[in-house]
Amino acid sequence: MKVTRTIPEIRSLTSEWKREGERIALVPTMGFFHEGHLALMRKGRELADRVVVSLFVNPTQFGPNEDFEQYPRDFERDLALAEGAGVDVLFSPEPNEMYPPGHSTAVEVEGLTNGLCGASRPGHFRGVATVVAKLFNIVAPDIAIFGEKDFQQLQVIRRFTKDLDFPVEIVGHPIVREEDGLAMSSRNSYLSPEERRSATCLFRALQKARDMASQGPVSAAGLKEALEKEILATPHTRIDYIFAGDPETLEEQDEVGRGSLVALAVWVGKTRLIDNAIL
Ligand code: PAF
Repeated sequence: MKVTRTIPEIRSLTSEWKREGERIALVPTMGFFHEGHLALMRKGRELADRVVVSLFVNPTQFGPNEDFEQYPRDFERDLALAEGAGVDVLFSPEPNEMYPPGHSTAVEVEGLTNGLCGASRPGHFRGVATVVAKLFNIVAPDIAIFGEKDFQQLQVIRRFTKDLDFPVEIVGHPIVREEDGLAMSSRNSYLSPEERRSATCLFRALQKARDMASQGPVSAAGLKEALEKEILATPHTRIDYIFAGDPETLEEQDEVGRGSLVALAVWVGKTRLIDNAIL
């Protein structure tokens, strides 16, 4: 596996592959790999001839009081894991390479970013959309693979890819979970053992939503109340949001049933976790 740090280096590799007619998959990441990331890389291996993984803790998607500095990093371990997953190139630029002095352009997706994580993390999706658009221009992949845990992120990326005519196929990959149902996330490493036990309340709440809607549509208000009870009965938890609505428009629905999206953001101690399910 090659490691590249600069835009000209990765461009020269991918343009060579393109000349040879090879199909390229991009897996954008912020590193600290877990089984969820590795599943995206393996999917890339399955769908394309070449797999590029970008590893960049993108400063512009973190708010001023968020965890950019503390975000977990372990470059050597990540290298070994990516290599084991059959990745061809790991592109790991420095912030200056991505945002040289004078950088002043951003991608802003309207509407879809108003609610859910967009409401609690102002500017977050502007940072995500901008860096992902840059990665699409730098790597020129045929496909790009993202986890469905960040469901709103996936919809935002699908939207700007279409709106800005990027010739990239966006592939969503199902959430990879721990044995007890907790969705895998680099941020799970922040949890104390006791908080880690509490963190399963997100999955339990989603199971409850599935049970409640299994016989037909139910009131969104009733469903949210039941989920809130389930979560708040668990120590160390504070709810950021519970969303129940349309997975395409990300608008709330009064009644939810088959095909609706239930998405959660819950603080467990000082760690903010997200999870979701399509009913
Ligand atoms: O999901 C992530 O890890 C990040 O938001 C992404 C897509 C790599 C952009 O920085």
